[in-house]
Amino acid sequence: MADLSGNYEIRRFGAVSKNNDGYAEAETWSRAVSFGFHESTRTPEHVAKSLATYEADGRILTGVYQTGTVAPSSMPAEVPVATFATFRKSLNIGFRRTLETQMVTSVTVRTSHRRRGLLRRMMSEDLHLAKEDGIAMAALTASEGAIYGRFGYGVASFERSVKVDTTARFSLAHRPTGSVEIADPTALLQLAPEVFERVHQLTPGSLGRQDWYRQLASGALGRDGKEDPAIKVALHYSADGAVDGYVSYKFLGWDTEPYTVEVVDLVAAGNDAYLELWQFLGAIDLVERVSWDEAPLDDPLTWALADPRCIDSSDSRDMLWLRILDAAKALEARHYPADDKLVLEVHDSLGLTAGTFALQVHSGDAAVERLPETAEADLVLDVSALSSIYLGAVCPVTLTAAGRIRENTAGSALKARQMFAVERATHCLTHF
Ligand SMILES: CC(C)(COP(=O)(O)OP(=O)(O)OC[C@H]1O[C@@H](n2cnc3c(N)ncnc32)[C@H](O)[C@@H]1OP(=O)(O)O)[C@@H](O)C(=O)NCCC(=O)NCCS
Repeated sequence: MADLSGNYEIRRFGAVSKNNDGYAEAETWSRAVSFGFHESTRTPEHVAKSLATYEADGRILTGVYQTGTVAPSSMPAEVPVATFATFRKSLNIGFRRTLETQMVTSVTVRTSHRRRGLLRRMMSEDLHLAKEDGIAMAALTASEGAIYGRFGYGVASFERSVKVDTTARFSLAHRPTGSVEIADPTALLQLAPEVFERVHQLTPGSLGRQDWYRQLASGALGRDGKEDPAIKVALHYSADGAVDGYVSYKFLGWDTEPYTVEVVDLVAAGNDAYLELWQFLGAIDLVERVSWDEAPLDDPLTWALADPRCIDSSDSRDMLWLRILDAAKALEARHYPADDKLVLEVHDSLGLTAGTFALQVHSGDAAVERLPETAEADLVLDVSALSSIYLGAVCPVTLTAAGRIRENTAGSALKARQMFAVERATHCLTHF
């Protein structure tokens, strides 16, 4: 328990499901989060279902509570004025390597207590605790772009919303190797995590998913806390009959024109599965458009379409933000496609991992040595910029042009680009 300048205290506790000790505290915390995100009050059933999934993920809930007298008739002291939650999953850091990552979510501060440093205190305490626990990376997705750079986070992956014209124009240059069949959506309660795990191993930038995803994809628990009877599911079978992909989708109704199917979740453990699921979506009768809000920027679909202009994508945005907590550990965890040497001077305003590091790569494996502060570095950068380039989706040459990286040795930003490249496009399908 930490004291926050006498007015507040921080409490941390595990998420628990109904009928367990601590449920009342977790339930109150959960209501504070809904309030912070302007949701209408969640029903007790919705809160209970959410907390059951949080328990399955091993979430640690942080609340900031008022210690003094609360204003008469205002929210009682047991309702936290600020919330924060974390859980740990693996991050694919390229070439099938993974790194355990602290995932930060449910960040809210009550309006009447904002800009007093509560977020800063929750964030810096949590990141220090995670580092002490041996965790080298933290991740989050951001509601606003200006909040998290100051804490050392950098944008590391992107996504876009697409509307795909599936009228007669839609044609993919791909000869199917497997097949697609409709399934009862509840099949995904068991299958979704198994298929996702295969995708996760293949995709740089992928983060392990929270338990809720299988419920979302199967229609068991929609975003509104209810079952979603509109969900339909198609499975992709590879040539040997194994399920290696699925799409969960719903028809938006006859009032939406053009007639549209919305993708809820599309997960494919291979190139053929991905294209064949799109062939399936493109073949749904009476439907003229398929929309998907979590499409990759660097999308094979674009290049497989006979007419790439079938894709209307207007909203490219940052998705995953990473924050390296331990530069030496994170750099050594990666595989590098180019052998070379780089000296990096890393700045870190939270004091977690500042220093000058020599990154020496032999046969793809890295050895990292901490050098004296006086050592000459090839590149000088904040930990947020290092976190951005770490997954290969953000180009160090571009960050140099933007003034985010200082290049002391000519050509070293390009060298960094080659060293930090990954084997296929970075894409994170886990929102949290
Ligand atoms: C974003 C939010 C959590 C900030 O909480 P807070 O306690 O007011 O933040 P702090 O007082 O600790 O501020 C820390 C720093 O971030 C800055 N900051 C905070 N929110 C900011 C925002 N939305 N945009 C830009 N800067 C912001 C502060 O100015 C301060 O800067 P400084 O330390 O350089 O002076 C709070 O405004 C909130 O609950 N917003 C609604 C929910 C939300 O967006 N959550 C984020 C989900 S990803």
